[in-house]
Amino acid sequence: MIEIRELKKTFESHSVLDGIDLNLNKGETLTVMGISGCGKTTLLKLVIGLLSADSGSIKVDGKEVTGLTEKEFNTTIRRRMTMVFQQGALWDSKTVGENIELALNIREGISEPERRDMVIESLERVSMEGTENMYPEELSGGMIKRAAIARAIAARPDYLLYDEPTTGLDPVLSRRISELIIKLDEELRTSSLVISHDISSIPHFSDRVAMMHGGKIVLTCEAGKIWDQEDEVFKDFLHGTLENV
Ligand SMILES: Nc1ncnc2c1ncn2[C@@H]1O[C@H](COP(=O)(O)OP(=O)(O)OP(=O)(O)O)[C@@H](O)[C@H]1O
Ligand SMILES: [Mg+2]
Repeated sequence: MIEIRELKKTFESHSVLDGIDLNLNKGETLTVMGISGCGKTTLLKLVIGLLSADSGSIKVDGKEVTGLTEKEFNTTIRRRMTMVFQQGALWDSKTVGENIELALNIREGISEPERRDMVIESLERVSMEGTENMYPEELSGGMIKRAAIARAIAARPDYLLYDEPTTGLDPVLSRRISELIIKLDEELRTSSLVISHDISSIPHFSDRVAMMHGGKIVLTCEAGKIWDQEDEVFKDFLHGTLENV
């Protein structure tokens, strides 16, 4: 379980996160929605330790992780938590297989044959078998997303953070990625925190959704009930008329 309390982050004088309170329960998929620039990627980067918070608390399975040194963070949390970045963030000069192998460096004591098997298995799980020798520039947008997911699951994390996994894809591909997220959660028993503003696909892969606005979580509800909510901010978001504060 991840418990986030009163989390704050300011860039120069711009307050982006102004007291985020959010729980990710074990085994669930929680989607955080919010308009562009409201701080969603910043929240994920804080959770995975790529940025440090100004104040507040993040507990992973009861252990406080804010304030850990990079080394402490790497040895305790990072091997259990991976992130699928907004643009995929594959290394262009490396093949798909090499990209995935790099992600396995976080785990010690894996032999060469085991590494190769883990690369192949990860690619199979995202239906990309046989692509390990391809370079990112040879992949379509949907394949890049899947390769990025294969890299994120390679080290068998307990927690997966997805930043906009379906945004920018056509409806069919978006649906396929949503189904992939559900399948992986079931097969690998991960707990997933997903960032998305792709309303059409959110209910498919989420157990719960949370709405972020003005640096806070203004609402959480079951995914199937998003259209029943009376909250004004939430309604404006769903109708595409919400603006940053
Ligand atoms: N490293 C940084 N330095 C300064 N400002 C930053 C930094 N990272 C993010 N910001 C600012 O924080 C705000 C939130 O950015 P963030 O990327 O978290 O938004 P987002 O909700 O993920 O947006 P999008 O939906 O477009 O991806 C933006 O105003 C952005 O300019
Ligand atoms: Mg973002």
